[in-house]
Amino acid sequence: MHDENPVNPSDNRRFEDVLQNRLQRRTVLAGGVALAATSFLAASTPAGASVIASNKKGKNKSEEKTGREPKHKGKKQKLIDFEPVDLDSGPVPLISSDYEFSVLAPWGTPLKRRAPEFSYPPTSADAQAKQVGIGHDGMWYFPSTRGRRGNRHGYLCINHEFGRNSHVLGKDLPESLEEVRISQAAHGISIIEISEVEPGSWEVIPGRQSRRITANTPVRFSGPAAKSELLKTKAGNRPLGTVNNCANGYTPWGTYLTCEENFNGYFGASDENWEPTPEQERYGFNATGFDYDWFKFDERFDLSKSEYANEENRFGWVVEIDPYSRRRAVKRTALGRVKHEGVALTIGQGGRAVAYMGDDQRFDYIYKFVSSGNYRKMLRKGKSPLDEGTLYAAKFNDDGTGEWLELSMENPAVAEKFDNQAEVLTYARLAADAVGATPMDRPEWTTVAPNGDVYCTLTNNSRRTPEQVDAANPQGPNNDGHIIRWRDSAQHTGTSFEWDIYLLSSDTAGTDYAYGSPDGLWADPDGRLFIQTDGDQPDGANDQMLVADPASGEVRRMFTGVKDCEVTGITTTPDRRTMFINLQHPGNGDPDATTFPDYVDGAVPRDATIVIRRKDGGIVGS
Ligand code: FEO
Ligand code: CA
Ligand code: CA
Ligand code: CA
Repeated sequence: MHDENPVNPSDNRRFEDVLQNRLQRRTVLAGGVALAATSFLAASTPAGASVIASNKKGKNKSEEKTGREPKHKGKKQKLIDFEPVDLDSGPVPLISSDYEFSVLAPWGTPLKRRAPEFSYPPTSADAQAKQVGIGHDGMWYFPSTRGRRGNRHGYLCINHEFGRNSHVLGKDLPESLEEVRISQAAHGISIIEISEVEPGSWEVIPGRQSRRITANTPVRFSGPAAKSELLKTKAGNRPLGTVNNCANGYTPWGTYLTCEENFNGYFGASDENWEPTPEQERYGFNATGFDYDWFKFDERFDLSKSEYANEENRFGWVVEIDPYSRRRAVKRTALGRVKHEGVALTIGQGGRAVAYMGDDQRFDYIYKFVSSGNYRKMLRKGKSPLDEGTLYAAKFNDDGTGEWLELSMENPAVAEKFDNQAEVLTYARLAADAVGATPMDRPEWTTVAPNGDVYCTLTNNSRRTPEQVDAANPQGPNNDGHIIRWRDSAQHTGTSFEWDIYLLSSDTAGTDYAYGSPDGLWADPDGRLFIQTDGDQPDGANDQMLVADPASGEVRRMFTGVKDCEVTGITTTPDRRTMFINLQHPGNGDPDATTFPDYVDGAVPRDATIVIRRKDGGIVGS
């Protein structure tokens, strides 16, 4: 691959030209030398010499091969043209003066006409299960119909990542099974019907499709591990629920994908003699879990109860949900079991479905799944494109090339350690260890830009030491994170790629778009990149959302959240005149920090969706 991008280390003048325009496109070497890249990629040498990817006649080879033209070469039409907003650390969200926002679907909103109104703390698990959950995170909008009405009426699938018990229950930890059930009912997914009642004003309306999937809703498994003993318990309890639904994806066949991230925290062991297996250790299970204590009252989450052995293997999957029907949610085992942050699904060569996924833990990996065939043909045969295919883990070489390492029994490095594909998928992290994938700085969201570039946020990694840095994770410690970018071979279906670092957060320090801990990420069809943050911001400011134009290097801040919230989740109506984002854990549940979104005495802060609209009705982001 490297040979396809001839390098010319002596071409310093071009290097300077490029540097002018593309300060954001950087590859940083292990030695800390920053290089600007031309076109898509900067190749880099371990010696620290600057080597620039060939950009003859403004076209690099991968573009020539695939026929993809970058959208914004030549005459520039301004992609981002709004007044940026300053950082803030107050109790209310702020937005660019060219925009306006409203609030939709806060935690506790009744789904149906007869569902109970929000009360704090929730009165019962049954009441909570009829209301919008807590911990709003990834989401996607599905228009109710084709055509214009679909821009004003649709279904919103919202992930409820977590609800620390102090927030859900009004106390630190549950003290009874009923309280555990309330916490469980606040988790999962909300599928709500929403409608624009007046321009810019959306409401949750009672609808046939409106439903909750909680930690106790029946689900089913499919794909190569579905029938494995590893997913069966002695107790014979059927698979129930989804938890820690972080980011998301969606498919061209009209379904929602929700990703199970930190599922280990809900489990613990009541027996003090319990010891984790190596597999459990690799997924972070321990005797106490964190934040929830479900295992103390619900045996299903007790790792020391032999009847429920393997229950923990039922979490950590990508789950497919049909928002247009009430069909059972399906855990797609072919995509592997990791702490799934999100999934960016695109259609690659031969119509194959390709899914890019991050496993959000320090020193964990980036994954890719490629379906075995054309997704339309598979669907016509009654097969899910997400049930049959190949899973890979990414290896980033220091020279700007990369490889997708196959996680299957066909790979000798895997076959040596595993007995069958179900095991490989259930313990995908260990399979990726075996093949030598590159440990990354907490891979969060991935997104595929219209020119084929794939971006992934690496939110931060305080534990990476200076000795552990590599070209793809060049900072140790990495306190503020970075965004990495690659272009796959064979239109997303190959086993090699070229990569560079798009943006180091530390490079934004002192600019008017300074930020840290990138997390949510979405490339819109025009090539704008929306970046959302979750973590430390400059001067202790609130989390934020920025809009970037990778082609011009421009980045502007559109929105800032409230104190101690995270800005996450992003979707739009098909016309992109309305955008939905989420504020998660505003004030970390503390009314002294903020009472968003109610702002009345005695209110607790509530996670909620923010509806964003350009005042002139234009494309959101422009
Ligand atoms: Fe749920 Fe990694 O954020
Ligand atoms: Ca979160
Ligand atoms: Ca996240
Ligand atoms: Ca995060």
